[in-house]
Amino acid sequence: MTKKLNAAKKSIEYIQDGMTVGLGTGSTVELMIEELSKKINTGLNIKCVSTSNRTTKFANNLGIMIHEFDSVAKIDLTIDGADEVDPYLRGIKGGGGALLYEKIVAYNSEKNIWIVDDSKLVNKLGSFPLPIEVVPFAARKLVVKFEQMKLNPVVRKSDNKNIVTDSGHFIIDCRIGEIDDATALEKELKMIPGVVEVGLFIDIADYVIIGYSDRTAVLE
Ligand code: 5RP
Repeated sequence: MTKKLNAAKKSIEYIQDGMTVGLGTGSTVELMIEELSKKINTGLNIKCVSTSNRTTKFANNLGIMIHEFDSVAKIDLTIDGADEVDPYLRGIKGGGGALLYEKIVAYNSEKNIWIVDDSKLVNKLGSFPLPIEVVPFAARKLVVKFEQMKLNPVVRKSDNKNIVTDSGHFIIDCRIGEIDDATALEKELKMIPGVVEVGLFIDIADYVIIGYSDRTAVLE
């Protein structure tokens, strides 16, 4: 946790008074929200939007009010976690199942920071199973399609039931292994009817803050 906490603390330095800030999802983001709540309690004045019900609940429990995403004119900065990051600041996200709203909020943010511990750094994306959010109506057909594409799909379950995302979709995790062309794969997948979003985040992060046990480093 120290590594994640170090990255989380560093990211707070990028938040300035008056900003609208997007809050990502996951354990690293929750450490950041805890730090942020201390700043808010001592006078930092910001507006926050959230990327998931989980984050909204977590922030609310710390007294942080969450604004409707569609009610804010712009988002200055979003701070989120990631499951894998390559040297080109491309990532796989969606381990927490929030990829759709995370991508929408990130796309609408002036700047995006990811906070990760050093275990998330890879030379090539793909060791972490790629989450693909799909319309339940098409899920079985999509599993067959992804099998044909040799993506090794598995529908994500919890307690033997398909997990349902905040927007009412299923997630299919694909154990692909090293991805040679992440941009081409993202495009190909998004062309398939029933695919809502893909956990490849390309050209989104402006900074990645890496937490080590005794320091942080920033990729930009
Ligand atoms: C959720 C995500 C998370 O940001 C990602 O899974 C990292 O989580 P953690 O900070 O718990 O390692 O993409 O959809």
